[in-house]
Amino acid sequence: MSGIYIHIPFCAKRCTYCDFHFSTTFSSYRERMILSLKEEIILRKNEIKTPIQSVYFGGGTPSILYEEELASLLDAVHKHYAVDEKTEVTLEANPENINKNSVLAWKGLGINRLSIGLQSFKNDDLKWMNRGHNNTQNSACVKTVYDAGFNNVSVDLIYGLPGLRNSEWEGFLKKVVRLGVEHISAYCLTIEDKTKLKHDVENKTIKPLSERKQIEQFEFLCSFLKQSGYEHYEVSNFALNKNYSKHNRSYWDRKEYIGVGPSAHSYSGKGRRWNVSNNHTYMARGTKTKHWYNQEDLSTDSVWNELFLTGLRTKWGVLKKDIASLGGFTSNEQEEIKRMIDKGDLIDSAKAYVLSEKGLLFADAISEHFFRVS
Ligand SMILES: C[S@@+](CC[C@H](N)C(=O)[O-])C[C@H]1O[C@@H](n2cnc3c(N)ncnc32)[C@H](O)[C@@H]1O
Ligand code: SF4
Repeated sequence: MSGIYIHIPFCAKRCTYCDFHFSTTFSSYRERMILSLKEEIILRKNEIKTPIQSVYFGGGTPSILYEEELASLLDAVHKHYAVDEKTEVTLEANPENINKNSVLAWKGLGINRLSIGLQSFKNDDLKWMNRGHNNTQNSACVKTVYDAGFNNVSVDLIYGLPGLRNSEWEGFLKKVVRLGVEHISAYCLTIEDKTKLKHDVENKTIKPLSERKQIEQFEFLCSFLKQSGYEHYEVSNFALNKNYSKHNRSYWDRKEYIGVGPSAHSYSGKGRRWNVSNNHTYMARGTKTKHWYNQEDLSTDSVWNELFLTGLRTKWGVLKKDIASLGGFTSNEQEEIKRMIDKGDLIDSAKAYVLSEKGLLFADAISEHFFRVS
């Protein structure tokens, strides 16, 4: 299994909390960027040896693209790669870009999964987050995509927002469950450097939610979605009827994928590569600059660290056979494992070590206990 991630580095406006790579002033070079993305897709066609099972348009805001632009990128993928007939083709879509015409066009292009950034159902929050949609559009756009015949829909929500009451969060989750979406990604708000949110928190015009409330909201998220039939398969991801995201799974399972576009990451099994996070440097590749990406071969220690970093975030955990293939635990690590099991953070299942629900809350911090430094 392998995948292609295509990063669309454009957004209509800047959300206050977001530090993903994008530009809001792209009209003068939009066409050139699409050509550049297309060229990179073709340039890297020999890097993938197995059939593509996931094509993922992420961003930025891929739903901002015109139908012809998406068509030309997909055309390049189909012409130059072996694409499995059951390939999951996902488009991240913002609610304000969803209407009858756009969804029918996406469907016609073979896009068969939408990941919709609802974020919140509270208009005041959508306003300070500088989102381009309101609460009414949230519910309406999900209905629009189902009416157009989509049957694999994911929504993104953010909890732990400043001032968000537990009762409000519970109401949002009840709404998405009623909408019947196949997949939910729910992220706890992180205050990223160089964002307006960080600036407002530092200037004390915004007060972050307490950690206690964020934990309560995570706990409700886990218990309510479980009781509603969703499988909690990764810290922030929940699936109905095994509708896991193929794109995310290939990342957590360390399967090979190529990331096309500025800031996109790639993984070959042996090494990682990441493209420059600058639209103009990216487009100038081959002419003005050769330095449009960096790469590193993975050392045995990095493979080990990633095994824990990615594995412990999922319900499948870190497989014992993978641990054995890398030489097994040291005696210190074995003691650490025992300590975590006794504390109730980790479960020793037959084939793997898996985090408990309590442990999942601190997955990244726990995996760091197993990191090795060469
Ligand atoms: C690539 S981003 C945005 C996709 C799309 N452009 C949108 O705005 O809906 C993917 C998701 O990451 C989440 N996200 C981005 N910044 C975040 C932050 N600072 N804290 C928590 N979640 C965040 C949001 O839920 C967002 O939908
Ligand atoms: S959250 Fe989405 S729409 Fe908002 S700035 Fe980030 S990528 Fe763009």
